[in-house]
Amino acid sequence: MRQQITIDYDEFDSVNALQPDDRALIDSAMAVARKAYAPYSHFSVGAALRLTNGLVVNGTNQENAAYPSGLCAERTAIFAASAQYPDNRDYDALAIVGLNEDGEYCEASPCGACRQVMIEYEQRQGHPMRVICYINDGRVRVFGKVADLLPFSFDF
Ligand code: THU
Repeated sequence: MRQQITIDYDEFDSVNALQPDDRALIDSAMAVARKAYAPYSHFSVGAALRLTNGLVVNGTNQENAAYPSGLCAERTAIFAASAQYPDNRDYDALAIVGLNEDGEYCEASPCGACRQVMIEYEQRQGHPMRVICYINDGRVRVFGKVADLLPFSFDF
């Protein structure tokens, strides 16, 4: 029998349309993107992870001359939060922003490996982690949960 998956998500014309806490999170990701270490791709990414206690932990992409050794901004943020606050491993929302070599903000949709990492924390905490992605032309896309971004994810 043929099955079908559909996902719901929201798009906003401007970051100004976001709730104040989400707006602050995307602002944080935008600011930190400028501090990424991306000397090889010249594509910077900023991430801002809000814990359910309100604390915000940032990440940026970290590249390396041995290319596969680098890490995306999303995982840098999540692993930093998990390492620094192991007793508050409970995440409310993750904002992601790209920054191209012309210094313009642009879309950065999380890669598959980041989605796999994100979903493990979401499943573990038992409630959704929202994902807020800056997209082109100042628009924003908001997913209600990581599970929507990775159907049939690996687990054992
Ligand atoms: N990158 C991220 O940090 N997050 C994403 O969502 C996509 C890609 C990084 C990896 C690499 O440093 C650069 O962007 C170009 O792929």
